[in-house]
Amino acid sequence: YLEVAYLLVFGELPTGPQLERWVHDVTHHTFVHEDMKAFYRGFRHDAHPMGILLAGVGAMSTFYPHAKEIGDEEERYMAAIRLIAKMPTLAAWSYRHSLGLPYVYPDNDLDYASNFLSMLRKMTEVKYEPDPRLAKALDVLFILHADHEQNCSTSAMRAIGSSEADPYCSAAGAVSALYGPLHGGANEAVLRMLAEIGTKDKVPAFVKAVKESGGETKLMGFGHRVYKNYDPRAKVIKEMAEKVFEVTGRNPLLDIAIELERIALSDDYFVKRKLYPNVDFYSGLIYQAMKFPVDMFPVLFAIPRMSGWLAQWQEMIT
Ligand code: CMC
Repeated sequence: YLEVAYLLVFGELPTGPQLERWVHDVTHHTFVHEDMKAFYRGFRHDAHPMGILLAGVGAMSTFYPHAKEIGDEEERYMAAIRLIAKMPTLAAWSYRHSLGLPYVYPDNDLDYASNFLSMLRKMTEVKYEPDPRLAKALDVLFILHADHEQNCSTSAMRAIGSSEADPYCSAAGAVSALYGPLHGGANEAVLRMLAEIGTKDKVPAFVKAVKESGGETKLMGFGHRVYKNYDPRAKVIKEMAEKVFEVTGRNPLLDIAIELERIALSDDYFVKRKLYPNVDFYSGLIYQAMKFPVDMFPVLFAIPRMSGWLAQWQEMIT
């Protein structure tokens, strides 16, 4: 993921030494200021992790006041490093806060995804070693969510940044935009839909109801404003889902999803309208199997999207 983040921020893939420096710099900026803990503690126990995250990102502006010098290339570099490096820390702490668990400090021996898993799950063990298959799945999901055109949160980042606000404030606005169910929340809607269908044999009746609703009811996780073909990200995620389930056990909703996809792809209504599974169709199933609560889904999206937001912001500023 960090290699992709570099590609987005700088427009080209890094050379070996460039990647080494980039990974080193990100890895060595994963800690947040200790005062951030006090700030986090002020939230209610049941505060939504996305609300905590966006406040944390905005609060970073007060810790790094020089970031407002947006014409300074070094300041822009440091802001990008800090935001990418600290997102997993802020995200994991927002999750731990909702469980009433102590916050876990970053482990800089671990790679980006593994460190995030450690900050989420570590309890009394001296060193948390995540299953490499789950870390790999998370890394792939991070890559697939890193950027996607001029969408709502990207536009928010650019709109706020255009006033020459510092990148932390702009990024807090982008996180807020992603919070909305029409943007970051479609994978949750897929899970709800699959649960509502309940069993594989009820899929044909559900598809029939969708078709007869005249556009009122939609197949969530299907269709895309740009892709009028099988979303290439969905293909990768579907394969990844099988690998994750080898570790976590099979998510029972997967069979319903596969049946839904099979029926829809052979149905004239969907074929004619070029409606195919999109990125959200399988991602929620993976997150659920990895025991992430639904409230964490947009947070998991926000972590990697930070590099995309920064790339768009950087493009606008320069
Ligand atoms: N299920 C059933 N029918 C659909 C669906 C669907 N998911 N999506 C579009 N249609 C129908 C729609 O009713 C219309 O039919 P008709 O021509 O008879 O009026 C036709 O297909 C074209 O619809 P449209 O609104 O012009 O399609 P669009 O390309 O503007 O919409 C969309 C794209 C993503 C908003 C829509 O497909 C949708 O709401 N999908 C479900 C929600 C979803 O999965 N969102 C995640 C999108 S991917 C996120 C990402 O890339 O980051």
